[in-house]
Order: sequence, then structure tokens, then C-alpha cells
Amino acid sequence: MKFQYPENVALNESETAVVILDQSILPNETRFLTLLTPESCYEAIQKLRVRGAPAIGIFAGYALYILSKTIRADSFPVFFQKLCEVGSYLNSSRPTAVNLSWAIKRMEKTAEKNQEKSIAEIIAILGKEAHAIQQEDIDMCHSISEYGLSLFKEGDGLLTHCNAGPLATSLYGTALGPMLLAKERGRNFHVFSDETRPLLQGARLTSYELQKAGIDVTLICDNMASLVMKNGWVNACFVGCDRVAANGDVANKIGTSGVAILAKHYGIPFYVLGPTSTIDLSCKSGDDIRIELRDPEEIREKWYREPMAPEHVKCYNPAFDVTDHTLITAIVTESGICRPPFTESLKKACQTSKYQSAR
Ligand code: MRU
Repeated sequence: MKFQYPENVALNESETAVVILDQSILPNETRFLTLLTPESCYEAIQKLRVRGAPAIGIFAGYALYILSKTIRADSFPVFFQKLCEVGSYLNSSRPTAVNLSWAIKRMEKTAEKNQEKSIAEIIAILGKEAHAIQQEDIDMCHSISEYGLSLFKEGDGLLTHCNAGPLATSLYGTALGPMLLAKERGRNFHVFSDETRPLLQGARLTSYELQKAGIDVTLICDNMASLVMKNGWVNACFVGCDRVAANGDVANKIGTSGVAILAKHYGIPFYVLGPTSTIDLSCKSGDDIRIELRDPEEIREKWYREPMAPEHVKCYNPAFDVTDHTLITAIVTESGICRPPFTESLKKACQTSKYQSAR
């Protein structure tokens, strides 16, 4: 059975707006939003209506394209300055996933390279570039999924954290890609999905996507991962990534590093899956990665009928953590499976990627 992939990010017919599936209200409501302004695009990223590192990059490409059409300028320098202003505004919406700044830089560079052309022509080229970012992500996710498929076998139990599926990317996804591909090819296996406090991407999105695809998925609270591993029910962990440093340290959803520590304890391989667009060789290690801090309300009251903590209690709400490279068995990219030492294998993956020219 082929899974019906949702159109999470697309352009409207006249290419004047970005249309997104609002992930913040899934799975209870399926609502599409039509975004026309810099402010609504910023809000969509900030509030996780569109989320997941690659999807944010794709969204930013389309957003810059449609917003470039609203720029009033009669010379390239004025056009470019306004384009960069919108770019840096969107880029300030979330700091950790490198795909956001990567896509914005790519769009700006494309405009700069074509500055001899008319503004109308540059805008048309920006449209093509935004489509190319999405198409490349589709291809990269497919290739990652093929490599990931070789890392588990019939009857295995897998564990994943947060959501790195089709909603977070294009088509297959990264961490969920090998699972969806395996299902299409008739392989039997089961998946434990961590609920992923505080925003519940595992409960709301991963279990939703896997269940829809007919995969045997069991939802667990984050603090149950240790028990299912101890019981011998997990043969491998598959997670996504938001930024991979040159030494292989990986920023991903808060709680990922705890899963990696548990996996090491129980001798379970821990795999990170992501496109080379998520590798940031300018970050030497995880210490260089900026971690987003979010609203305490997400811990104190969101999802509850009444607040579940004393009013104004101090909260610490980092959206991501960094998993030390020593805990990671391999990082799976579209160029292949990178193993330690990551400083060498990641560099090679970036150099040999077909998509390197775009970086
Ligand atoms: O805060 P989110 O939901 O955007 O965090 C998403 C993750 O941490 C994903 O694992 C990561 O972006 C990879 S998505 C293929």
C-alpha cells in the first residue's frame, strides 16, 4: 500500500501565497493556511504551524519568492536590500535548524548571481529556485530512506523521537523514511514513538503519520523509552536532526540526547538521518549551535484543561538539545552512511553530494 503524502508546503495557483497544512492543530483538525505577508510567514514558523528542519527551509524558499513579488524597486540594489531585509526577518523566527538560514542564503545568492537581469526575470528565477529546493529535498529524502532501510531487518523494533517524517520534509521524511519505504516493500517491523514533550510532535504527528501508513506503531511517554529498551523491544533508534556540527554533534528535538544515552547503555545502535543541507561545517562542535528557548506556557498549561503548575513558576524550555557524537552509531545522508570519525565522513558526504553546488 502506498501512503498518501500530505501537501505540507505548496504555492497557491497564482503563486502569490504559500499554502501550508497547519501542523500545530494536527491530528484533530486538518486546516490549510494561505500566507501572504512577512508577518504571517514569520508567525507560521515561530508557532510551528510549519516545522521540521527541511520543511522550514522549503517554506522559507517559497515565502521569499512570493514576498519578492511585493517588493517595489526600480533597481537591483534596492530590490536586493529589501529581499535581504525580509530574509533576515524570517531567519530570526527560529535559530536552531540550519535549513532555514541555508535556504534563505541560497535564495539571496540566486538573486545576486542574476543581478544583470530585469527584476521580473529575477523573480521568475527565484520561483524556479524555490521549486528546486523542494524537489531536491524529495530526492534527498528518498535516497536517505534507501540507505536507512539497510540498517534494520524483518521483525525489528525501532524507536523514534519527535517527528522527522513527511510532514517535516517532503515525501518520505528522514528518520521515518526508511520505515515508510520498508512498509511499501512489505517488511514487518514495529515502531515506538516517543510522545516528545512539551509540544508532542511524536504523539500528534509521528504516530499519526505511521498509523496512516499502516505501520505497527506504539506511542510511549518520553520517560518510558528506558523500559522498552531494557525489555529488549528496540533494535535501533532512528531520529532526525536540525543542525549537524563538523564533528558529528547533532542538535535535534529536546530529549534526543537522553534517548542516545539510553541506547548506548543498552547497546542499541543510534542513527541520525538528515540531508547534507542540515550539516553545518562552520560549526566545529555542538557548543557552537544556538538552542532555541521557548515560551514557559508550553510546559505550564498548553494541552491541559487547567494549568498544571503554579502560576508564574520558573520554567526552562529549550526546544532542542545536542547529542554528543560519541553516542551516535552513524549519520545517514543522501550521499551515504557516515560513520566515525565524523569529521572526515561528514566532510566527504558534503563534497560528494550531487546537491553540493546548491550549498
Ligand atoms: O521543533 P520542531 O518540531 O521543528 O523540531 C523538529 C525536529 O527536531 C526534527 O527531528 C528535525 O527537524 C528533523 S525533521 C526531518
